[in-house]
Amino acid sequence: MSKQQQPGLPTFAAMTPGAGLKAAIGRNRADIIGEISASGIKGRGGAGFPVGVKWNLCAAARGDLKYVVCNADEGEPGTFKDRLILMEHPDLVFEGMTIGGLTVGAREGIVYLRAEYMYLRRPLEAVLAKRREAKLLGQDILGKSGFTFDIRIQMGAGAYVCGEETALIESLEGHRGEPRNRPPFPVDTGYLDRPTVVNNVETLAWVACILQKGAPWFKSVGTEKSTGLKIFSVSGDCDRPGVYEFPLGITVAKLLDTVGGQDAKAVQVGGASGYCVPKSEFHRVIAYEDVSTGGAIIVFGRDRDMLDIAANFLDFFTEESCGQCTPCRDGNPRLLEGVELLREGRCSMRYLNELCGLGETMQLASKCGLGQSSPNAFLSIVKHFKDEIMGRVPAGH
Ligand SMILES: Cc1cc2nc3c(=O)[nH]c(=O)nc-3n(C[C@H](O)[C@H](O)[C@H](O)COP(=O)(O)O)c2cc1C
Ligand code: SF4
Repeated sequence: MSKQQQPGLPTFAAMTPGAGLKAAIGRNRADIIGEISASGIKGRGGAGFPVGVKWNLCAAARGDLKYVVCNADEGEPGTFKDRLILMEHPDLVFEGMTIGGLTVGAREGIVYLRAEYMYLRRPLEAVLAKRREAKLLGQDILGKSGFTFDIRIQMGAGAYVCGEETALIESLEGHRGEPRNRPPFPVDTGYLDRPTVVNNVETLAWVACILQKGAPWFKSVGTEKSTGLKIFSVSGDCDRPGVYEFPLGITVAKLLDTVGGQDAKAVQVGGASGYCVPKSEFHRVIAYEDVSTGGAIIVFGRDRDMLDIAANFLDFFTEESCGQCTPCRDGNPRLLEGVELLREGRCSMRYLNELCGLGETMQLASKCGLGQSSPNAFLSIVKHFKDEIMGRVPAGH
C-alpha cells in the first residue's frame, strides 16, 4: 500500500500552517489566480468547477464589498470527509479562505457550518482567535498594509438543500433555504447581492497547499483533466471504512482493494445523488471525466437488495426537496412509489418505462442540482441490475 492509500489525511498533515498564506501575500492577484489555474484544481464539493475560473470571475466583478464563503454543510448521505478536515486541519481551510479574500478583494469570510457539526464550532472559534493573535486574520494581515480579512461562523439549520450554493446564500441571509435562479451567479450577485465565492472545505484546504507547494507539485498526480489528490469518505460493506486520500483517476477496483471491499456487487460513487457503478464497471476511473464525485463512496455487498437502496435514497430526496419546482417536488415521491410497487411485484414493464422517463425529465427540468441528480441512483440501478429488477416485474405485464 502506498503512502497515499493509507486512511487519513497524510498530505494535509505534512503541510506547514501559515506557509501558503505567506507565499501568497507577496504576490499580486493575477499571479495567485495564475498559480491556482496552472494547478488545474477543480472544486471538491461535487460540481467540479475550476477554482481559478471562479476566483477570476469574482476578482473581476464590480463591487466594494465581496465575500468568501466556505461550504461546510456536508449533507450528502455518505459524506463525512469535510468534518475530518475541519477537525484536524482547520488552519488550512481558514488559510484557503484568507488567500481567497486577498485574491478576489473580500474583507469577510463566512463558514456555513452544518447544524449537526455544532460541536465543532467552539474549537473552530478557538483556532480563529489564535489566527487573529498571530496576525493571520484581522487588519494588515502579516504586515501587508490594507489587507484586512476576518472569518465568522454561521450555523446551518439542518436542510440538505442548503448545501446548494444559492440556497446556502439565502439561508445565510436569514431566508428560507431555497435555490435561486442562475444566472446571475454568486460570483457576481451572491451574499447580500455582492460578489461571492463559495467553495467547499476541501477545495479551500487544497488551495492553501497549492500556494505552499506550487502548481507542478499538485498536478504531479491525477489525470490530465482531474489533477491532484482527493479526499474520500468510504462507508458501507467494506472491511476498512473511513476517510482516505487517493489520487483522482484511481479505478473503482483499486479503491475497493484498498478499503477491503473486493466482494462488492456495486458501489455508489457520489453519495445518494451519485451513480451506482456495478461490478462489471469497476475498471472505471473516479475522475471528473468519468465517474465524478464530491467524495462519497458507499460500498454494497453481494447480499444487498438494490431496490432497498433506491428506496432509501428516494425517501431522503422526497423529504429534502424544497418544493419550489414540480419535477422534483412531485417526481421524487412518484419514483419512490414506483420502487414500492416493484418491491411488491405490482409494477408493470410499461409503468417501469414511464418511471425511467420521469427520472430523465427530472434530470433535465428540475431547477437545481437536487432534483437534477436525485433520479441518478434509481436510473443507474434499473440500467445495471436488470435481472434483479425484471425479476420483480409480473410476468406478461
Ligand atoms: C443539493 C445540493 C447539495 C450540495 N451540498 C454541498 C455541500 O454540502 N458541500 C459542498 O461543498 N457543496 C455542496 N453542493 C455543491 C455547491 O452547490 C457548490 O457547487 C460548491 O459548494 C462549490 O464549491 P467547490 O467549487 O469548491 O466544489 C451541493 C449542491 C447541491 C445541488
Ligand atoms: S430541484 Fe428540488 S430542491 Fe431544487 S429547487 Fe426544485 S424542488 Fe427545490
